[in-house]
Amino acid sequence: MSSEDLRKKYIEFFKGKGHTQIPSASLVPENDPTTLFISAGMQPLVPYLLGALHPAGKRLVNFQKCVRTGDIDEVGDTFHHTFFEMLGNWSLGDYFKEDSIKWSYEFLTQELDIAPERIKVSVFAGNDEAVKDEESAQIWRSLGIPEDKIMYLGKEDNWWATGITGPCGPDTEIFVDGVEIWNNVFMAFNRKADGSLEELPRKNVDTGMGLERALAVLNGSDDNYQTDLFAPIIQKITEVTAKRYSEQTKWIRRIADHTKAATFIITEGVEPSNVGRGYVLRRLLRRSMRYLHKLGAGISTISQIAQTTIDKYSLIYPELSQNNPQILAILEKEQHKFTEPINDLEIYRQDLEVAFKNQIIKKIGSIPILLSPNVASGQYVFENYQTYGVPPDLAEEIVYELGLEFDKSGLEKALNEHQHKSRTASSGMFKGGLVHHSETTTKLHTATHLLQQALRLVLGEHVSQKGSNITEERLRFDLSHPEKLTNEQIKEVENLVNQKIIENIPVTVETMNKEEALNSGARAFFAEKYGDQVTVYTIGEFSQEICGGPHVKQTGEVGSFKITKEEAVSAGVRRIYATVS
Ligand code: SER
Repeated sequence: MSSEDLRKKYIEFFKGKGHTQIPSASLVPENDPTTLFISAGMQPLVPYLLGALHPAGKRLVNFQKCVRTGDIDEVGDTFHHTFFEMLGNWSLGDYFKEDSIKWSYEFLTQELDIAPERIKVSVFAGNDEAVKDEESAQIWRSLGIPEDKIMYLGKEDNWWATGITGPCGPDTEIFVDGVEIWNNVFMAFNRKADGSLEELPRKNVDTGMGLERALAVLNGSDDNYQTDLFAPIIQKITEVTAKRYSEQTKWIRRIADHTKAATFIITEGVEPSNVGRGYVLRRLLRRSMRYLHKLGAGISTISQIAQTTIDKYSLIYPELSQNNPQILAILEKEQHKFTEPINDLEIYRQDLEVAFKNQIIKKIGSIPILLSPNVASGQYVFENYQTYGVPPDLAEEIVYELGLEFDKSGLEKALNEHQHKSRTASSGMFKGGLVHHSETTTKLHTATHLLQQALRLVLGEHVSQKGSNITEERLRFDLSHPEKLTNEQIKEVENLVNQKIIENIPVTVETMNKEEALNSGARAFFAEKYGDQVTVYTIGEFSQEICGGPHVKQTGEVGSFKITKEEAVSAGVRRIYATVS
């Protein structure tokens, strides 16, 4: 079976059970400062799992592109990826365990023709917080799953939470030939800030099936990288490196995974940098390029691998081919920037090897390359980074490849001392928490709507949103406008927003058909990204936008609004930073 067939079968099956297909959300979470990337199908749905009404209804299905950078070091085995897709179906306060389990079983055995003997399941064993999930076990038994194929596992394995607080509950996992392919979470509880559990008035089901893994299992393979989702990409890598997959499996898998993830990330408008998403992207690209170099190919071949990825996925994700020229341009720029560091990395490897064999101990300033006979110095790696720009994460990999130990704390200490906290902070975000909207981010969200309309009134109708980002501290808004805003214009915009705040206008929300919303003049950032049904936030006569929220109830709650900075982003795009207090 092909990946195209599997996606299609899954969507059609759940549509047949009354689900509405929703589009794959952008990999970059909207209005969520706490995570770098969408890492599960349910993540963009958190507001709805928490109780907001979803415009597409109570039964949803989709396939969602995901990035999990927390797994970057595991990539190389048969089933870890930084980029993958998740098939998911949801019940928002509608059906619960019985239908969910029955439909999963029906899909696997009837639609995919998986023999029942190949299926095993696990259910929650219970603890002092929540009871043993005998209900799910009973449903499995009623479907004919024998007792010895129902495992009872604890919180570690069979409990799923969206975050430290928020919806959570027991799950039942489905294994085929011993491989977990599907996770059905029964979100019956809400974890409160004090750590206690309360039962949710409206219970949800959240399921997720990894497309790559499911596809491998269906095709009788234990290697996700041998599915059609990777085949052309791996073929291209073996061509450019002139190495066989069976000989350099681990490196080839890493190149394929990282280049694919990077290609998708660039498509979202992210560019390589030293912080946040840009740093993740840079790391993926540089790792890929180093492995290509290691396998004897030029680093520029990464462009061919990215192109193969674009060609493979564009039918499903047309944004890839739409951004084809930008993707190649960014790759070329990054290749350029990496040419020197990659040579310096090679020098580091040679120096380290020589030092280890005890001939010459290289130093930078007074710092020797080795801390002790088989431990590479972290401080040296830091100096090497400061002086020559050699990326520490890749230097660290080289240490391990040579079979040495690495003084990681020495590196971290040096990095911290030099205030490279952004790097550490963003690596902390690799694992990704989930959406949390504080009072401040909610206010900033409403302020963003007021700002957009004020800009249109002051500068003209040509103004449209080019991007938006909200953190605890401030909002950032990119707009199309050909020139720098004058101080007078900035003041005027600020005054207008503050006036609307003082008027204490009610903010209302309603669900509309997309066409209807657009016709009624609602602003939409990326109209094509929304499903048929959309939520529209209206601020009196002043503003109307398609948006997922959340927003304050009355503009007065926003407080006082201030523009703190205005700058250029690119030709024809300006960026505004603003705060509320
Ligand atoms: N949220 C669950 C998971 O990521 C099910 O979708 O596995």
